[in-house]
Amino acid sequence: MINLPKHFKRLKRGPQVILPKDIGSILAYTGVNKESVCVDAGTGSGWLAISLARIAKHVTSYDIRDEFLEIARKNVQNEGLSNLDVKKHDVTKKISESDVDVFTLDMPNAEKALKNVKAALKEGGFVAGYLPHMEQVKAFVTALEKLKFTNIFTIENIERDILVREQGVRPSTKGVWHTGYLVFAQKQ
Ligand SMILES: C[S@@+](CC[C@H](N)C(=O)[O-])C[C@H]1O[C@@H](n2cnc3c(N)ncnc32)[C@H](O)[C@@H]1O
Repeated sequence: MINLPKHFKRLKRGPQVILPKDIGSILAYTGVNKESVCVDAGTGSGWLAISLARIAKHVTSYDIRDEFLEIARKNVQNEGLSNLDVKKHDVTKKISESDVDVFTLDMPNAEKALKNVKAALKEGGFVAGYLPHMEQVKAFVTALEKLKFTNIFTIENIERDILVREQGVRPSTKGVWHTGYLVFAQKQ
């Protein structure tokens, strides 16, 4: 077994990545498994796409920026994953995939991709949005409601390091506080 968070820190980083605490929730709430076909956008450094591909049958990850695609492709190659394709494409434009089990979105204006996401998902398929700001959450949830997605819910994960010491056990005053909000919904 590898120490996954430490292992990930060795991967190359371009834009902000999704951290283990939020990746864990995405995997758990979407129920992604070895039969799952996933689509992800934007690829960024590929941390979420790689995490999905470690479990899923196949992942296609899209980004619009060549410099990030290059970083992600290097990371994918270093991971030796053959079930993850990284491609250049704007997912607010037409998406060619269909019968997708899980669609993850971590990109600006993610709500603009939701019409395409719905068309690509199979019945019962999940969308997960990772959104740094509450205003983005509102726009995303409003768009999900308009498109008649079901089981919509939003969470924020607060992770606190706990100091275990002779003089007292308490949360650390340092740490990563805000990362992003997670919105989940189902096509049904
Ligand atoms: C914060 S990064 C994603 C990080 C990634 N989830 C990870 O864990 O490494 C956001 C990415 O979305 C990409 N992006 C922005 N608009 C997009 C679009 N319309 N279609 C696809 N990717 C897009 C950006 O180029 C950027 O690389």
